[in-house]
Amino acid sequence: MGIPYRIYTAATVLVALVAVFLASKSPATPESSFSPVQGKNGTVLFFVNTEYGLSNVHLATISGLLEKYPCTEIHVASFPRTAPKLQRLSALARRKSPDARDIYFHPLPGPEYIKAFSARLGVQGKSVHYLLHPPGMKGLSTLISRVQAAISPWEAEDHINIYTRAGEIIQDVDPSVVVLDTTLQPAIQAAWKSNRTHAYISPNALADNFAGDQPNWGFLWKYSRMGSDFPFPMPWRKIPENIIVTAGFIYSAFVRSDFRAIRKQLEAHGIQDPPRSSRLNRPWIAQYLPGASIPLDFIPPNVICAGPIVLDEVPAIEQDAELTAWLSRAPTVLINLGSLFTYKEEHAKTMALAIADMLAKTNVQVIWKMTKEGNYSDADVLPPVQEDIEKGRLRISEWLSANPVSLLETGNIVASIHHGGANCYNEAIAYETTPFALRAGVPQVIIPMWFDLYNYAQLVEDIGVGIYATRGTAPNWTAENLRKSFLKVVDGGQESLGMRKKAKELGELAQKEPGRLTAAREIARLAILGTQHGGLC
Ligand SMILES: *[C@@H]1O[C@H](CO)[C@@H](O)[C@H](O)[C@H]1NC(C)=O
Ligand SMILES: *[C@@H]1O[C@H](CO)[C@@H](O)[C@H](O)[C@H]1NC(C)=O
Ligand SMILES: *[C@@H]1O[C@H](CO)[C@@H](O)[C@H](O)[C@H]1NC(C)=O
Ligand SMILES: *[C@@H]1O[C@H](CO)[C@@H](O)[C@H](O)[C@H]1NC(C)=O
Repeated sequence: MGIPYRIYTAATVLVALVAVFLASKSPATPESSFSPVQGKNGTVLFFVNTEYGLSNVHLATISGLLEKYPCTEIHVASFPRTAPKLQRLSALARRKSPDARDIYFHPLPGPEYIKAFSARLGVQGKSVHYLLHPPGMKGLSTLISRVQAAISPWEAEDHINIYTRAGEIIQDVDPSVVVLDTTLQPAIQAAWKSNRTHAYISPNALADNFAGDQPNWGFLWKYSRMGSDFPFPMPWRKIPENIIVTAGFIYSAFVRSDFRAIRKQLEAHGIQDPPRSSRLNRPWIAQYLPGASIPLDFIPPNVICAGPIVLDEVPAIEQDAELTAWLSRAPTVLINLGSLFTYKEEHAKTMALAIADMLAKTNVQVIWKMTKEGNYSDADVLPPVQEDIEKGRLRISEWLSANPVSLLETGNIVASIHHGGANCYNEAIAYETTPFALRAGVPQVIIPMWFDLYNYAQLVEDIGVGIYATRGTAPNWTAENLRKSFLKVVDGGQESLGMRKKAKELGELAQKEPGRLTAAREIARLAILGTQHGGLC
């Protein structure tokens, strides 16, 4: 059928593409002459998006700075929705160390990242269902058409406005270090232009960010490309498909000239991307934890492996005392497919069936965050779980009245069912659960639907801490595959015990030094001039 032909075609274009890719990696200009503008001692300026999945690692680092490095002055430039989150951080930090300072907030002009991304793809409204694609080669055409928009989604005028404002903020604040979000391209360009010391904090897997830098062309045969669900180590039979997907990626990121008009306008404005080589000589803080991440053969020396960078939260009992009391009644399963996903009627029905089955066969209770998309009523989807709701074994809400980390922190969450977001993954790794006689880790069930969510779904199986629920049907779900996966992690059988044990080992490793403190230490070291170790304050 079509496949051998496609492999052949892909193999021929691949040679050309890899040449482009490797060429773009060679250092553009030697930087020996680079002498950064120094800035005000101890002043840190963060540029971050507002979406939870993109900026949570930065917020966590800020909380670490507030708590441990009170001599740093912290500025944050972001979209207005970030401001109240920063107020909460300050309030929480002040409880732990009364001399924690305020954070200075600098609003950026919009639109926010996801809004710009949807608009770029011509999508109206809040739904993110346009993001859904199957993993691997089947999803490749969708992926290819999205890569450039994902790298930088703003229209020229908005992009220029953000860039210009970012430059002004840098001038005004005069920071000794600028901390960047890898998905806020206009700020990256402004920081580059300003010649300031800068560092990146990324929620993403190192294997996604640095696959191309691995020896022996590992990115072709060893590391599963973002958006695929090949195991690690990669079986031989998956290599051809990985090569095709990789070629598609390289093509979409480096060759395809989407949005040419926008690029022209940015160039006319003097806006330039940093050279690719700069990724290898600026501090890059990652949530990499040995054993809990795909191992890399080569970790670039500029990378700081912080492990899970999890935001400290106000205890759940203070956020919702009644919910917290309910949590302590029985081992609880948390179902939260992230802040973006909304349930169409079919999704809600399928999930309700799977939950009903889990509740019938085990003694757990369930908290399910569910936002509807479309005009359907509870009566259309909830009959299978009606009795459980009445008995108080299932709670459904559009918003969690206590955030997921604080729920995990109670020790009552015995399994986390999520969409495969980097933060959900890392939070579940970092926490333990205690309703069982012995302390245990929190196993995960992942229902991935786009991009790197597939890589996390595969990862939990590779390292033995969870289940990829929808293998073979993703991005679609069936009640059958959800049901089986849920039971595997909560039925108390051999497999579920093994996952809890493995997750516990990783959690202990993660807690040795919480990632947010490692990240804060690194940023303080960069910010406080003329000291080797930072934080001498
Ligand atoms: C940054 O450095 C370059 C080359 O060293 C110089 O031409 C440029 O004017 C500097 N820009 C700023 C904003 O200092
Ligand atoms: C939703 O459905 C109900 C009844 O089925 C109808 O009365 C209502 O107008 C609908 N709303 C929208 C926004 O379509
Ligand atoms: C998912 O469902 C859609 C619509 O029902 C269907 O077109 C598609 O083929 C399904 N995908 C997979 C991988 O089963
Ligand atoms: C920066 O501040 C720290 C303490 O806050 C101090 O130890 C250090 O000497 C200062 N560096 C410079 C270059 O002034």
